[in-house]
Amino acid sequence: MPLVNTTEMFKKAYTGGYAIGAFNVNNMEIVQGITEACSELKAPVILQVSAGARKYANHTYLTKLVEAAVIENPDIPIALHLDHGPSYELCKDCIDGGFTSVMFDGSSKPYEENVEEARKVAQYAHKYNVTVEAELGQLAGIEDEVSVDADKAHFTDPAQVQDFVTRTGVDSLAIAIGTSHGAYKFKPGQKPQLRFDILKEVAERLPGFPIVLHGASSVIPEFVQQINQYGGQMPDAIGIPEEMLREAAKMAVCKINVDSDLRLAMTATIRKYFAENPSHFDPRQYLGPARTAIKNMVEHKINVVLGCAGKA
Ligand code: G3H
Ligand code: 13P
Ligand code: ZN
Repeated sequence: MPLVNTTEMFKKAYTGGYAIGAFNVNNMEIVQGITEACSELKAPVILQVSAGARKYANHTYLTKLVEAAVIENPDIPIALHLDHGPSYELCKDCIDGGFTSVMFDGSSKPYEENVEEARKVAQYAHKYNVTVEAELGQLAGIEDEVSVDADKAHFTDPAQVQDFVTRTGVDSLAIAIGTSHGAYKFKPGQKPQLRFDILKEVAERLPGFPIVLHGASSVIPEFVQQINQYGGQMPDAIGIPEEMLREAAKMAVCKINVDSDLRLAMTATIRKYFAENPSHFDPRQYLGPARTAIKNMVEHKINVVLGCAGKA
């Protein structure tokens, strides 16, 4: 099947009590590892490209890699999504360039500016059957070229969501309930917590409407341990516990964003490989196992966190 937008995926996910994995892609091995896992488990998937990924790998290379994945995995729905689009112009560029879904991220802007620009993006996107995600509330951590200090982050105000969605016409909404971008989501000794009360209130105010969780990597401890064992320095890296993500997926959360866990899988595998094979220098020798580690990690997520196996 051709690239799809997120409408059907989210409709089924909402009613089925599961979530779609949205994985950030930056190169061929990442695209292959993710889609091989999804294909084997018959899971729908969103491949997302950040502004930084687009700068790094180039729009054409990334879209062609994703198109290749669509050809190689014809049995599963795949959406190509812009992650954290900072402006109308970038969203338009991606819509014109073949993306089937875009996020306009106006979460750091004043409310009325966020509304106005998201509305403009949705109006343009919908002419081309492209779905739009927007964000209310602000996550801590580093997202594409924007670094948000923990003290500047704030939870989504449920009282705003109805007004925002009605006035903008967006198709899904990312909310801030305690997740954050990157590998250091909680302080050591701090008990990981998410504001499920906010998620519940948002869902009550927007019945049937798909909610998105950014910053949702589990920062898988085995990878962190392996990185540290083989020369890395990532002390105190902590993510969102898997059972909390599963809980969110059973509620209104239809899209769970994962980038850090892909980075950790790849880095842990390559560090170990180099330590054990110091004389090797063919990139295929270490990128191959890194791709397999990504595939295994994504399969685990589909089974344990997302619950979307067999939903293609
Ligand atoms: O939300 C942020 C994603 O992890 C993308 O990160 O902007 O470094 O590609 P990036
Ligand atoms: P993580 O850093 O938790 O993987 O979040 C990724 C993300 O939200 C991409 O938009
Ligand atoms: Zn994000």
